[in-house]
Amino acid sequence: MKSGGNETGLIHTLWTLEGLYALEWNDLKPFLQSNNEVLVAQALTAIPSVVTRANHAAILEALKPLAANVKLAPYLAYLLPAIHAFAPGAAGEFLLELAKQYPNDAYVADAVISNLHKREADFLEQLNRWNTDTTLVIKKHLEEVLQDIREKEQARLKKELLKELSRGRELFKNICQTCHGADGKGIRSMAPPLNRSEWVTGDKNRLAAIVLFGLTGPIEVNGHVYDQKEIAGEMPGIGNNDALSDGDVAQILSFVRNAWNNNAGLVSAEDVARVREKLKDREGAFTVEELQKLSF
Ligand code: HEC
Repeated sequence: MKSGGNETGLIHTLWTLEGLYALEWNDLKPFLQSNNEVLVAQALTAIPSVVTRANHAAILEALKPLAANVKLAPYLAYLLPAIHAFAPGAAGEFLLELAKQYPNDAYVADAVISNLHKREADFLEQLNRWNTDTTLVIKKHLEEVLQDIREKEQARLKKELLKELSRGRELFKNICQTCHGADGKGIRSMAPPLNRSEWVTGDKNRLAAIVLFGLTGPIEVNGHVYDQKEIAGEMPGIGNNDALSDGDVAQILSFVRNAWNNNAGLVSAEDVARVREKLKDREGAFTVEELQKLSF
């Protein structure tokens, strides 16, 4: 196929053959040698339909010289999964070469990254071994993708965790929510927030002590002091409620430590039992000063 021919006609023929499943590597080869970039790009897009076990090595060799052209590099990266199916090692090396050749080109970066699903961290490590510059565009894009993956994984784990704490959620709804709010943000003149509260996510024994025995303010939560003027009532303990087992209390505590924006370790029935035992002679609500003197 000569370059400079009828471009639209050639492209039409190529895709007609492809549509008939009649396109072959030998039809595409001449396109790749054309100095018309549009034709080369079209041929590259069609390559996945012609790759076979028999020709993948020859195709890869024919692709390598095209990597010198920055406009074609993203097309090369996008078609590599087709080669990867037959020769993961060679395709992987070529991908890494593309990344190293154009580390600051956003199009190449995104095309390369689209190949990686689940191998992003390994690939970043390979790039780091090659070049320690962390400002390279491809590294920044990879970091973003990895961050996104981490956040999705955390959200998934949290959803699963909260499913296991459904009894805690139920008990929270029945006992705590009227004062602290369904969203844990507290309710004006009723109670301070549990979301982002250091009392909730901090020491689990201290938290158990508050919930078992109650609390009387003033108390500072997340940088704000709640005093008598702001909140008149006090926090009732649930330690004397015989309907609630240590396991139930542990579920409530584990739930509030992991609901909303909170992420803290779980509390077990044994933890609750230990706090009860330690404070068995105690009566009445704690003050903040008393809580601060407690040691477990
Ligand atoms: C009758 C309203 C009320 C109920 C019900 C209630 N609390 Fe409270 N809670 C308060 C008040 C009021 C304070 C602050 C103390 C004060 O101002 O005297 C507080 C403080 C707290 C604190 C420490 C401060 C903070 O915001 O982190 C925690 C932890 C807490 N409550 C957890 C719970 C849990 C868990 C439940 C359910 C088992 C619950 N509370 C039920 C009113 C309530």
